[in-house]
Amino acid sequence: MNPKFGYPATADDYREKARARLPGFLFDYLEGGATDEQTLRANESDWANILLRQRVLVDVDEVDTATTLVGQSCSMPVVLAPLGLAGMMARRGEVQAVRAANASGIPFTLSTVGICPVEEVQAAATEAAWFQLYMIRDRARIEALLKKAWSAGCRTLVFTVDLPLPGMRHRDFRNGLASPGPRSKLLKIQQLLARPGWIWHVALRGGPLSFGNLSDALPDASNLDAFKEWIDTQFDPTVTWADIEWIRSHWQGKLLIKGILDVEDARQAVQLGADAIVVSNHGGRQLDGVASGAGKLPEIVAAVGSQIDILVDGGVRSGVDIFRALALGAQGVMVGRPWAWALAGAGEAGLTRLLTSWQQELRLAMTLTGVTRIADIGNDQLDRPHKPKYPKAGEQQ
Ligand SMILES: Cc1cc2nc3c(=O)[nH]c(=O)nc-3n(C[C@H](O)[C@H](O)[C@H](O)COP(=O)(O)O)c2cc1C
Repeated sequence: MNPKFGYPATADDYREKARARLPGFLFDYLEGGATDEQTLRANESDWANILLRQRVLVDVDEVDTATTLVGQSCSMPVVLAPLGLAGMMARRGEVQAVRAANASGIPFTLSTVGICPVEEVQAAATEAAWFQLYMIRDRARIEALLKKAWSAGCRTLVFTVDLPLPGMRHRDFRNGLASPGPRSKLLKIQQLLARPGWIWHVALRGGPLSFGNLSDALPDASNLDAFKEWIDTQFDPTVTWADIEWIRSHWQGKLLIKGILDVEDARQAVQLGADAIVVSNHGGRQLDGVASGAGKLPEIVAAVGSQIDILVDGGVRSGVDIFRALALGAQGVMVGRPWAWALAGAGEAGLTRLLTSWQQELRLAMTLTGVTRIADIGNDQLDRPHKPKYPKAGEQQ
């Protein structure tokens, strides 16, 4: 199907719609990953290797996709992941996204470097948004940011730990995003002129296009190039586990640590009393060559799954992928690019439709694997259970 003419049904259909509407440099910023994008590709393709076990003639009259994630009731085990600059993808993008998420009964996470400020997002929300934090060098500013998020009503903090420095995203370099100057300005103008619809709907009617949560950090927060330069120097590579305690002392709500990809790090997060971890490689945007979320999840579940809630992200593109993540032992998933594709391609209604379709797919996967409750999904629903590479003593190969 050419999604330009038919009804968009899948995340990929919305991706094509977004491609047709966004200026090239913005689409690439959303789409791209680090270095050769191998991890980015693995994120999507690895879910397909997880085969499910079909069961028939089980009474599946009352399948329920509802669950609880980090103490919050959800219609399905999905959270919209934090995406920096999401408000550039659609007019007041974060506001549209929180409305669609809440209408679908799931949480929305606002990025530190979102366009809409937390107060604006919370005013549109019917459920408290989750707030994502990057540690920046200026600790007084972090303290103020945490206070702002708390006063606005946020009670769940997602602390992202896999960005001591921004990754090497070559698409952004080619498009002049990572190298401001007259030539890159020309490049961007050229791409902008090819998308008059975006100029009208987002640039002219969707302002201010500044980093809403940090707008008091620089006098001219609407100069995104200057701001990006500032923020890139602000990421703090000196952050260690000791800083988690500092955050704990400044945040009374739930705390998730996002960007865990190693068993030892997962154990540290448990020790420091995090409420949950997000197994994530930042959508393949940081270190190319690391394992996918799907690849790393079983090992981390085996090590700490009985002690802490685990979410996973990277390449989740359907309700079946959500089911696969749960079958591997996660409590839920975060979803990044697909929500911005749907929003950029078809607005708030498009995102709501995509989430509804994923819930239907999840329900169908439960029906055909013979489970009626989210809590019952597990290893038993895998066709080839993920066994250790070498059989244990006495185990048949
Ligand atoms: C354009 C873009 C911006 C992102 N910005 C943030 C961010 O501000 N904070 C954060 O913790 N993660 C950020 N991420 C990572 C996502 O939260 C999430 O981990 C990732 O997108 C999941 O992979 P997926 O896009 O394949 O679903 C970003 C990802 C993308 C694609």
